[in-house]
Amino acid sequence: MKLFNQGTPVTSAVSFAGLIEKIEILRSTLRWSSRLERPEIEKLLKQATTLRDEVMGLSHKERFVAAASAEPEAVTEVEPVDLSSRERRQALMERSFIFEGTFGDNPKLLEALEIAEKASPTDLPVLIDGESGTGKELMAKVIHANGSRTDKPFISVNCGAIPDSLLESELFGHKKGAFTGAANDRRGKFESAHTGTIFLDEIGELPLVGQVKLLRVLEAHEIQRVGSDEVISVDARIVAATNKDLRRMSQEGTFREDLFYRLSVIHVTLPALRERRDEIALLVAYFGDESAGQLKRRPVKLTPRLRDFLMHYDYPGNIRELRNIMYRISCLAGDTADLAHLPQDIRPRPAGLSVVAGAGKAGVADVTTATSLAEAKRAASDEAERAFLERGLQEVGGTVAELARRFEMNRSHVQMLLKKHGIHSKDFRGNRAAEGGK
Ligand SMILES: Nc1ncnc2c1ncn2[C@@H]1O[C@H](COP(=O)(O)OP(=O)(O)OP(=O)(O)O)[C@@H](O)[C@H]1O
Ligand SMILES: [Mg+2]
Repeated sequence: MKLFNQGTPVTSAVSFAGLIEKIEILRSTLRWSSRLERPEIEKLLKQATTLRDEVMGLSHKERFVAAASAEPEAVTEVEPVDLSSRERRQALMERSFIFEGTFGDNPKLLEALEIAEKASPTDLPVLIDGESGTGKELMAKVIHANGSRTDKPFISVNCGAIPDSLLESELFGHKKGAFTGAANDRRGKFESAHTGTIFLDEIGELPLVGQVKLLRVLEAHEIQRVGSDEVISVDARIVAATNKDLRRMSQEGTFREDLFYRLSVIHVTLPALRERRDEIALLVAYFGDESAGQLKRRPVKLTPRLRDFLMHYDYPGNIRELRNIMYRISCLAGDTADLAHLPQDIRPRPAGLSVVAGAGKAGVADVTTATSLAEAKRAASDEAERAFLERGLQEVGGTVAELARRFEMNRSHVQMLLKKHGIHSKDFRGNRAAEGGK
């Protein structure tokens, strides 16, 4: 961005961008390295992160001073066009953009990051929308981290989680004795966010009375604690997020139109994971690796049918769901994860399983596709049997003998049933402790 490098002495700009680039390359090389042992990698990553923070800290002031004293920009600068996604990400890195861990090269995501880059140094309100789990809160942090308020508080408020009766006091604070239970003076989220950023999450859930009050703060930059006459100035940068269509809500009268326009001076929309399918493989590897690091284990291998499922699944919960799935299977599986390690509610049905890898009993019908009552009953019974065995194995940490003992079954019968369903007991080893800790 012009603001950052223009006007800075050439040598400093080059070495600054070059240094950041080197650090980023080092970080990503280390993250994907298969030869180094994890503790070593972690140590190096830590060092690289510290170095990067130092560079950012040192350069921050310089960049803004340079921007303020720069000659007015010539109008001749042309915005780059048609850059590849890699180049766009690279360009953001060179401009020392802070990603806060935002991963992916999808054009819509990059567009959102580029908008965030331009919006960050300003105090303009930003509205972020996108389905659940698309990274709205992460984007709000990106905006905060790239702006001049980065060292100041970032206060997050979930507007949907505050009961109506407490809303005003949560946001603006209250005076002692203002209402029953107000035992002390208390400051609200806006005052806490003074000089920093306030993140108003799920803004679409804010009741109409709250909307009116918020509008007043946006207009006057002042608040009053509940029960107090004193007017307090607050300087909080507002970033709001929603998974609702606020424009439509404002047309329908459930969200104030004036507030919508005030909040959405800059409007960023995050893409659903379905729209960035090309990145699922990378995200699976990324979160597989991240979860392995956190759980202190080797990255889990995936059977071809599980990989196939992960590539084609719809992810209504978007990146959060994919991330959770990878953590779950890293926690539950042994060396290799299979469909059985997926959450029950998204696991494909037995018919799917037997078709994909031929592991189950050939020709097992699906309850929904059975052509006779008898077949449907058999399919349902098979499903129940499978779920029972999997749950049992999870509970006993993958020990077949223990499973047989617990359910008073013959061990060879259990073995036979596991074989029938293509379930590998070793995939459930080491689960008991992990499950217990959750
Ligand atoms: N592009 C991304 N790269 C890496 N991680 C991401 C990305 N987007 C989201 N995540 C991760 O996915 C999870 C969900 O993100 P976040 O909480 O920001 O989503 P959200 O849109 O606020 O969700 P909700 O609507 O449910 O509140 C977090 O763990 C976040 O770090
Ligand atoms: Mg959120």
